[in-house]
Amino acid sequence: MNMDTQSADALVKALADGYSSEVSQVLDLAVCPAFVYVSRVVGAFEGTSIAVGAQDCSDKEQGAYTGQVAASMLRDIGCTYVIVGHSERRQYNDESSELVCQKASQAIEHGLVPIICVGETAEEREAGKDEDIVGAQLVGSIPQGSSADNMVIAYEPVWAIGTGKTATPEDVQAMHAFIREKLSDGLADSQNVRILYGGSMKPENAADLLSTPNVDGGLIGGASLEADKFLAIARAAL
Ligand code: PGA
Repeated sequence: MNMDTQSADALVKALADGYSSEVSQVLDLAVCPAFVYVSRVVGAFEGTSIAVGAQDCSDKEQGAYTGQVAASMLRDIGCTYVIVGHSERRQYNDESSELVCQKASQAIEHGLVPIICVGETAEEREAGKDEDIVGAQLVGSIPQGSSADNMVIAYEPVWAIGTGKTATPEDVQAMHAFIREKLSDGLADSQNVRILYGGSMKPENAADLLSTPNVDGGLIGGASLEADKFLAIARAAL
């Protein structure tokens, strides 16, 4: 819930002007603004290779669900991606993995790629339950019929989001290997599923994190609000 029209326009322009063909040839870059700016940002990125997504969608198909936004609507206005199950929604909106799964399912059904977020809290990690929690979130949140082509996983330790604390590359490597292994239980093409890391990723730590085995990209929060930082992170992935 950041930005306004003026600052969003400025950010989008700086991104569109600043991303290089080198970046766009190698990386899939997407921006996920708040709902009210999504159409505007889709328009602004037209003709670029920067895709647009939303930060959430409804678990329902359509109809009398005041205040909700259907996956089909997001697709209709030009979205490619939608984030589902972000820890802030799991925490502040009491979203269960079952609900996240229904949202992801709606997204896939309507041709959007859900970015399904999982991650443990500090207490869960300290209690040695991080893999149990993330494993259960994966099993509960990934819909039947998912594949490497139609969904993305984002591992975001809750204690690292917006806090400036980043998981160590060792922690990230261990958890991403666990996630990859867990995905192989149900998905034939689990090796190809993109697993993003998120949580205080910034230009200074991006190269290390993005070169960690099984880390296929980043989900960037705070640093994405500044074009030069976001683009520096993108370049660190090359
Ligand atoms: P952060 O946020 O990069 O500011 O930690 C990540 C997120 O909100 O997904």
